[in-house]
Amino acid sequence: MSAKIIEKKLIRPPDVFYYKVSAPLISKKARPGQFVIIRLNEKGERIPLSLADINPEEGTISLIVMAIGKTTSEMATMKAGDEILDLCGPLGQPTHIEKTGKVVLVGGGFGVAPLYPIAKAFKAAGNEVVTVMGARSRDLLVYEKEMNAVCDRVVVTTDDGSRGIKGPVTAALEQELSKGGADLVMAVGPAIMMKFVCRTTEPFKVKTIVSLNTIMIDGTGMCGGCRVRVGGETKFACADGPDFDGHLVDWDMLLGRQKMYVAQEKESFEAWKKRHAHAVSEGE
Ligand code: NAD
Ligand code: FES
Repeated sequence: MSAKIIEKKLIRPPDVFYYKVSAPLISKKARPGQFVIIRLNEKGERIPLSLADINPEEGTISLIVMAIGKTTSEMATMKAGDEILDLCGPLGQPTHIEKTGKVVLVGGGFGVAPLYPIAKAFKAAGNEVVTVMGARSRDLLVYEKEMNAVCDRVVVTTDDGSRGIKGPVTAALEQELSKGGADLVMAVGPAIMMKFVCRTTEPFKVKTIVSLNTIMIDGTGMCGGCRVRVGGETKFACADGPDFDGHLVDWDMLLGRQKMYVAQEKESFEAWKKRHAHAVSEGE
């Protein structure tokens, strides 16, 4: 089904955009932790995007997208009022939300955005919700205001120390766990960050959920493109996930599979840039 972009904003210059998209049916059904697959036009590829907010009253969903390759850069040239040809979802299993006590959410870079609806849901279920969110530097932090509005506490880190605690999210997470422990940790961000979040929580024996953004094609469990190894078993991130117990994930396989099509992705992006260089948006 096609979907109109209602609002578009550049939220992290130069390349991370916020899109509010009209999706009345998806917004009624979607739950935190789920995702959609979009195809921009007839010749477009399908890409999965995590839900950064769900608003059933308005009939909209929000997506945070970094213009990093062909399709995401093409999306960055679109404006409010433009139509996305196909919007498919909600896909994947919702994040398991229950009252567990203290939940620590860990967000890396713009990966913190999908944690926003998850934080709201954990809070509404009666948990104490603490977020540790990090970026390379202060200008790259997103969704800090939004997370502050729904969490009991937000700890900010930057790799270069330009804001909050200096260092990666894992250092602040370790401090948080040493001081006050946690009943559950959930991480969304770069795969390498999620791997090290799991290493950090292991000695504390805290259950750690990760949201895996693998390569996906159909998004419904048919092609096997998104396969991951979890606890020695093959799982499909799109249908069995995207959330998994991070202590059971085969991170080496996951990181290797993420790089499988780098050469083709680069080639396709370069060809697109040659054809459309004039159209690349500076944001609105
Ligand atoms: P980034 O590469 O700048 O990393 C952000 C932060 O993650 C760093 O500041 C650091 O605190 C932490 N980090 C990175 N590597 C680490 C390591 N080895 N050990 C410990 N901590 C580490 O992030 P970015 O450029 O903003 O990109 C965001 C990432 O989030 C992308 O990789 C994107 O694919 C991912 N993402 C995932 C989902 C999902 O899983 N559903 C959704 C949106 C974005
Ligand atoms: Fe095809 Fe998951 S994307 S099986």
